[in-house]
Amino acid sequence: MKVVAVCGSHRKGNTEWMLNKLAERLKENGAEVEMILLRKADVKMCLACLKCEEGGRKRPGICQIKDDMNAIYPKLMAADCLVFGTPAYFDLMTGLLKNFLDRTCAIWPHLRGKPLAGVAVAEEGIGQAVANIKTYGDLCGMKWVGSVSGLAKNPGDIANDKNVTRRLLKLADKITDIG
Ligand SMILES: Cc1cc2nc3c(=O)[nH]c(=O)nc-3n(C[C@H](O)[C@H](O)[C@H](O)COP(=O)(O)O)c2cc1C
Repeated sequence: MKVVAVCGSHRKGNTEWMLNKLAERLKENGAEVEMILLRKADVKMCLACLKCEEGGRKRPGICQIKDDMNAIYPKLMAADCLVFGTPAYFDLMTGLLKNFLDRTCAIWPHLRGKPLAGVAVAEEGIGQAVANIKTYGDLCGMKWVGSVSGLAKNPGDIANDKNVTRRLLKLADKITDIG
């Protein structure tokens, strides 16, 4: 089973910690996990040229922009499950994750039926961050597996919340059960 996890945090912080904890368990369960750290990736903004839409739902998955997305598209399409992680920024997913999702315009019809899970963290309240991820999945016709969210401010703080760890391990087991 191949799982691709995409981290929308700007730093090596709580979201990344949560995704790593999830990945650890997935690997223990025999899954192959690829982590995409958007903070390190070259993912430019969508130019809204809509050339990627040629071919309709059978579009070939080609974006005119030449950056890291070209290598990421086949990985997203080949995955048995996707996991998107984000901190809440003003109650919403980060711009980094939204920018990445906009660039999936070239492939989104190919994500239909694929399982999707979400991970989110915020200092005081998760707001719409998980709902934002689920909205994207619903629009693409993906299957919602579930989510884990927690509260933490500084990098690493989330590791102190044993309940979050427990729920992450449970989510990993649920994902593995799909495969
Ligand atoms: C620009 C910005 C906006 C934020 N907005 C919120 C918010 O609306 N609600 C909240 O509870 N925390 C907010 N936070 C706090 C982060 O969600 C929190 O520090 C989280 O742990 C960051 O995750 P990370 O360590 O994965 O980067 C914000 C942080 C930043 C930098």
